[in-house]
Amino acid sequence: MTIGPAHAEDALIEPQEDNRKALRARLRAARAALDPNQAAAASHVTNSYLVHSAEFLQAHRIAGYVAVGNEADPEAALVLAHELGKSVYLPRIRPERRLVFAQWQPGDTLHKHTRLGIPEPAAGAPTIRAEQLDLVIVPLVGFDAEGHRLGMGGGFYDRNFAFRQAPPVTRPILAGFAHANQICQTIPPEPWDTPLDLVVTEQGIRRFPMRHNETSTD
Ligand SMILES: Nc1ncnc2c1ncn2[C@@H]1O[C@H](COP(=O)(O)OP(=O)(O)O)[C@@H](O)[C@H]1O
Ligand SMILES: [Mg+2]
Repeated sequence: MTIGPAHAEDALIEPQEDNRKALRARLRAARAALDPNQAAAASHVTNSYLVHSAEFLQAHRIAGYVAVGNEADPEAALVLAHELGKSVYLPRIRPERRLVFAQWQPGDTLHKHTRLGIPEPAAGAPTIRAEQLDLVIVPLVGFDAEGHRLGMGGGFYDRNFAFRQAPPVTRPILAGFAHANQICQTIPPEPWDTPLDLVVTEQGIRRFPMRHNETSTD
């Protein structure tokens, strides 16, 4: 921790930055310390809440993610979605932190992103624009009771779903997927943060009112 910022402006900005970093580190450490069997059992319950939700049942095109470490794992919901005839997509990370959603089905071979080590579909898989998705299962490091999200710190979901902030866009629905102990008291949102519409954990579903950026009317 650095003490005594040189400018008054820094004094306003720095604690917030520090808070986010510190919170992220604390939450990631807590998740890493979970017993993997308990994490898997929690994911099982979380998947069951998700697949019974109207948001899941009504969606035709669903994007998910591949869980790494003790992250809540939505694979069971993705497999069921495929069995129900829905189209399932996984993100591929492209330059400039762009996400492309590539179609996936159970059994498809995934390749680890060279730098980040996150498994993703092969380059040839058909892709869809983010705007065409109905539901996105969003990984997260932390969330709060208002649907604010703390991610891994890359701003990937903020950037790629920033279009959701403009009225009257209401799709895709952004569903955080997490362990219940990833809840935080408050995550003060930054101007670029894209809020979640709901968060699913092993304790159930929390839904949040849909929010848009304010528009200038003329
Ligand atoms: N829509 C966007 N356009 C440009 N940069 C963005 C956008 N959204 C987020 N960022 C940048 O991404 C970085 C990480 O954002 P942050 O919200 O802290 O990460 P995360 O959401 O992964 O927790 C920030 O420095 C922010 O400036
Ligand atoms: Mg963010």
